[in-house]
Amino acid sequence: MKKDFLHINNFSVTELKLLIKRALTLKKTKKPPAVLKGKVLGMIFAKESTRTRISFEVAMLKLGGHAIYLGQQSTQISRGESYADTGRVLSRYLDALVVRTYEQRDIEELAKYSTIPIINGLTDLHHPCQVLTDLVTLVEADKKLENTKICYIGDGNNMTNSWIEAALTLGLTLNIACPKGYEPDSLLLEKIKKHSHILFTHDPEEAIKNADVINTDTWFSMGQEISETKKESFKPFQINTCLLKQAHPQAIVLHCLPAHRGEEITDEVIDGPQSMVFEQAANRLYTQMALLEYLVGKKRRMK
Ligand code: CP
Ligand code: NVA
Repeated sequence: MKKDFLHINNFSVTELKLLIKRALTLKKTKKPPAVLKGKVLGMIFAKESTRTRISFEVAMLKLGGHAIYLGQQSTQISRGESYADTGRVLSRYLDALVVRTYEQRDIEELAKYSTIPIINGLTDLHHPCQVLTDLVTLVEADKKLENTKICYIGDGNNMTNSWIEAALTLGLTLNIACPKGYEPDSLLLEKIKKHSHILFTHDPEEAIKNADVINTDTWFSMGQEISETKKESFKPFQINTCLLKQAHPQAIVLHCLPAHRGEEITDEVIDGPQSMVFEQAANRLYTQMALLEYLVGKKRRMK
C-alpha cells in the first residue's frame, strides 16, 4: 500500500519520531546505503524553489536513485490536463512524485489517482517537508518534543498550518501570534480551541515569552501581492533583538528561508548566535533522504 505525505498528520507519532531519528542518523552517515537504486522521483514545481528542489534531487542521488525536474508550465497540466489523469500516467513511469503547487485540493486529487507516493513540496495550505525538517533541527539542538515551548510569529500561512498539525499530532506546546486579519486556516484555528497546549494570540510578546524555539516566515508567500498596508500591520511581529530578549536565553531561532531581511527578521538575529537557520536549511537534505527511504525504499514496501 502506497503512502503519501500531503500533510504532517499523514504520519503517526511513531512515524514522525522514526523519521526525525533517521534524518539525524543519515546526517552522520558518510556513505548512505543505495536503497533507491533504480528508483526515479518526479518533481513538478509550479512555484520557485531553491531548498526543496535541490535537497530532493541530491537526496535521490545520494540514495542511488534519480530525479526528474518538471516546471509545471512545461507539463500538460498547464493546458488543462487533470491532476487525476496526470497521476494515473506518471504512476506508470515513476516511483514517487514531489509536487509544489497552489491548491491543496490539486495535490489531494493527484494522490487519489496515483499508485505511487505523492509528497507535498509546498501548497498554499501546507509545507509539511519543511516542518518535519524543523522538528529534526530542534531535536538536533537538544530540545525535546515534550515540554519545549515553540512559538511561531508572523503570517498565518502554510508554515503556520503545518506547525499546528505537528502540535496536534505530537502534543507540542505551541504559541502562535499573527496580526489581525492574517490568521491561519480557519478549520485548524477552530480545532486548536480544544487543545490547551496550543495558544493563538494577536500579541507577539505573549507568544514569545520564555519560548525555547522561535519560528518565523516571510510576510508575503509566493503568489501573494506585496502590500505596504500589510507590512505596516506586521511591524510589531518582526523577530529582532528586542523581541528575542523576551524568549528563553537559550532559545533557538528558525526560519524556513528565503528570508526577507529587515522585514520578518533582522540581520542581527538571523546571523546571531541563537540562529539555527542555516543548519535547518542543511537538514532539508537529511530529512528528504529519510522521507524517501521510508516512502520509496524496499523496507516499507515489504511491510
Ligand atoms: N524553505 C523552502 O521550502 O525553500 P524553497 O522555497 O527554496 O524550496
Ligand atoms: N510561506 C512561504 C514559504 C516559502 C518556503 C511561501 O509559501 O512562499
